[in-house]
Amino acid sequence: MYLLIPAAGSGQRMGSAWQRQNKAPRNKLLLDLLGKPILAWTLLAAEASQTITWIGIIGQPFDWDDFKEIVQSLKLTKPVHFIQGGTTRQESVYNGLQALPPEAEQVLIHDGARCLATPELFDRCTEALQTCDGLVAAIPVKDTIKVVSEGLVASTPERSQLWAAQTPQGFSVPLLKKCHLEGRTQGWEVTDDAALFEQCQLPVQILPGEETNLKVTTPMDLAIAEFILRQRD
Ligand code: C5P
Repeated sequence: MYLLIPAAGSGQRMGSAWQRQNKAPRNKLLLDLLGKPILAWTLLAAEASQTITWIGIIGQPFDWDDFKEIVQSLKLTKPVHFIQGGTTRQESVYNGLQALPPEAEQVLIHDGARCLATPELFDRCTEALQTCDGLVAAIPVKDTIKVVSEGLVASTPERSQLWAAQTPQGFSVPLLKKCHLEGRTQGWEVTDDAALFEQCQLPVQILPGEETNLKVTTPMDLAIAEFILRQRD
């Protein structure tokens, strides 16, 4: 299975975490988490997966030296490719899809910032993708969610129908390429790939995600990630 890792974000919500590590702010995936950069944990899970055979890291060229150093230090056995990121996540994934080898029929896309996903989650996604063309790892939401407009609650969707989308998300490569092209033509702006599939009226299957599979976005997430990893030792 081919795996694309979007890792080209800037991590603007991580400022104080860099201060704490006495470094100038840059890509949050380079922040230290229990002695390794965040991205290293994501890569180790991909390496340990039984089904991932090819890894593409989508990043900004100014981060490549650091990314390459991480890959080398982990002594990964799987082939790793570096792909130029875009100005949005959507554009980064688009670039990633163009960089897949022509024989790639299916792909998993997994945010570099979700560094706690387990190898088993990748493998469950690979297996489920044998019987569908699109899937998203997700968990039911615990909070009651409000739709807000101009500071006022507009509505309260029924909680039992709400799931929090995670990554990995898995797709047929030709179909996802078509959806990304359509998204570019129509000017759709989305924050995950499943949304493009939906906009093209294609079914996206829910695959039970992991409660610990959080996206490290804020300094608090970093502290929680550290706590979760310590439990695993
Ligand atoms: O910013 P956020 O955490 O939502 O980004 C999700 C993932 O998308 C991160 O792993 C980030 O590095 C990646 N990303 C990207 N290209 C961008 C913006 C974000 O690959 N232009």
